[in-house]
Amino acid sequence: MDPVGSRRTFAIISHPDAGKTTLTEKLLLYGGAIHLAGTVKARRAKRHATSDWMEMEQERGISVTSSVLQFDYGGLRLNLLDTPGHQDFSEDTYRTLLAADSAVMLLDNRKGVEEQTRKLFEVCRMRRLPIFTFVNKGDRIGEDPLKLIDDVEAELGLPCSPITWPVYQGSHLLGVVERREGSLHLFERTGDHGQSRVDVETVPLESDRAKDRLGADIYERLLDELELLEAAATPFDRDAFLAGEVSPTFFGSALTNFGVEPFLRFFLEEAPAPRPRSTRDGDPVDPRSEALTGFIFKIQANMDPNHRDRLAFFRICSGRFEPGATVTNVRSGKPVRLAQPQQFLARDRQRVEEAWAGDVVGLHDRGDLRVGDTLSSNGGVDFEGVPSFSPEHFARVLLSDPLRRKHLDRGLRQLSEEGAVQLFYSEELAGPAPLVAVVGPLQFDVLLHRLEHEYGVPARLEPLAFREARWVTGDREVMERLGRGYDRSLVRDHRDRPVLLFRSPWARQQVEATEDDVTLHTVAPDD
Ligand code: G4P
Repeated sequence: MDPVGSRRTFAIISHPDAGKTTLTEKLLLYGGAIHLAGTVKARRAKRHATSDWMEMEQERGISVTSSVLQFDYGGLRLNLLDTPGHQDFSEDTYRTLLAADSAVMLLDNRKGVEEQTRKLFEVCRMRRLPIFTFVNKGDRIGEDPLKLIDDVEAELGLPCSPITWPVYQGSHLLGVVERREGSLHLFERTGDHGQSRVDVETVPLESDRAKDRLGADIYERLLDELELLEAAATPFDRDAFLAGEVSPTFFGSALTNFGVEPFLRFFLEEAPAPRPRSTRDGDPVDPRSEALTGFIFKIQANMDPNHRDRLAFFRICSGRFEPGATVTNVRSGKPVRLAQPQQFLARDRQRVEEAWAGDVVGLHDRGDLRVGDTLSSNGGVDFEGVPSFSPEHFARVLLSDPLRRKHLDRGLRQLSEEGAVQLFYSEELAGPAPLVAVVGPLQFDVLLHRLEHEYGVPARLEPLAFREARWVTGDREVMERLGRGYDRSLVRDHRDRPVLLFRSPWARQQVEATEDDVTLHTVAPDD
C-alpha cells in the first residue's frame, strides 16, 4: 500500500444539528470501524449531560479522544478531523481546517447554509480546499433541492454539481438517482433506525422496474428534472473541484443511511491524497519527500492541575514519522524529540508506531511549541503559518489583586503565543492592559482557569460589546477616522497591525459598502 497515496485527511463543516455526529457514525459504520452505529452519539450524549465542562476536563484529563478518527475504508486510510461545534466552537475549529486536505459541507435540507457553515466555509475557500456537499435529512421533506443548490451558489459563490438527485413521493423519499451512472437507488426502510446498512435496490433509470416502482407521474417528473439539471446545473469537473471551485453535491439522510453509500463511494474515488504544501519562501514540500516535516495546528492544554503537560496536534506534510526521532522547531531553532506520540482513534488514544503525510499525531509539549510552528527533520522549511481568525467575543481583564499585574501580563502573553486567546491593545478601551478576544466563549472559561491555575492570577472578565474584528489595510487616515465611529473602534493586535472592532455585522457591512480606501480581512494578513 502506498502510504501517502492512500491517505485521505478531511473534516466535516456544518452548523450544529445538521447531523455531523450522525454522518460520522455512518462513515465509521460503512468503513467497518464500528458495527452498530450509535457509539459516537452515545458518547456525545454523555458529554452533553455533564454541564460543567471544566469538571469534565478534570475528570478525563485531555479530551482528545474524538479529535481525529482514523480508520481504513475501501483500501484507503481516512483521517477525519473533528471540527468542534456547539459550545466547543473555537478558534481551534478554524485551525483544524488548515490540517485537512478536503472538506464535507453538511447542510440541513430545511436550513441550507447556516452561520457556522458559512464561517467554516470561508476558511476552506481561503485554502481553496475541495468541498463535497451532502444535503442531509432527506428522509423528511425540505426545501426544493434546486433552490438549495441555488442558495449555496448565491450565498457562498460555490457552484454545486449534483451527483445524486432525490426522488420523492409526497414527503416520502423513494430513492436517489446517480446521474453519472444513470442508476436509481431505491430504499427500503430498515426497522433499526439506521443502525445498520440500508437495503438498497439499484436499477438502471431506464428500466421498467424503475418506472414501475416510481409510477408514471413521478417517473416523468424525475426525467424532466434530470433534463433540467443536464442543461442548467454545473457539470462536475475534477480540476475545478480540486481547486475548490465546484462542489459535487449529494442528497440523502445520514439517519436512515439513504444516499450515504453513493456519497461515500464518490468520496473514496475523488477525495485528494495529501498534496504538496506551500511554504513561506521556498518551493512547496512534496508529501513523498523523505524529510519529516509538518506543522502544529492546535494545542490543547490539560485542565488537570496535576498534569500540566499539553498536547500539540502535529499534521505531517512529508516523510515518515517514527517515535523517538528528533526534529527541529524551525521558529526557535531548538531540537524537539518526538517522545510518546499519540494517535487518535474512534475509541482510545493509541501510541503511534509510524505515521505519514496526512496523518495527525499528538505530541506532548511542555510549553515549547506554538500554533503554527513548523517541525522539520532537515531544517530549511517553513510552512505558511496558522493565521489569527476574527474573534467574536471581547473583554477587559480585571485583576482581583493589582499586585499580580506582572504575572497577568506574562500569562496573557504566553497564552496568546500558544494560540489560546488573542490580545488587542487600545489606550482608550483598556489603558495599557490588553483586551482579550476569542472565537468561542468557552475559550474565556479556559483562559480564566489557566490564568488562575498556571499563573496564580485570579481574574474576572468584563465583556465588551463588540461582535467582530477585521484586520484593516489601506489608508491610515481613513482607518483613524473609522475608529472614531460610535459602533466601532480601532485597536492594534500583538504584532501592531491595525484592527477594527465592530459592535455588529451591520456596522462592518456599512464600512465594507462605503469605504474604498481600506480593505477588511477576516484573517490576519501574513506579513
Ligand atoms: P450535529 O452533530 O451536527 O450537531 O448533529 P447530530 O448528528 O447530533 O444530529 C442532530 C439531530 O438531527 C439529531 O436529532 C439527529 O438524530 C437528527 N438527524 C441527523 N441526521 C438526520 C437525518 O438524516 N434525518 C433526520 N430526520 N434527522 C437527522 P435529535 O433529536 O437532536 O437527537 P436524537 O434524539 O435523534 O439523538
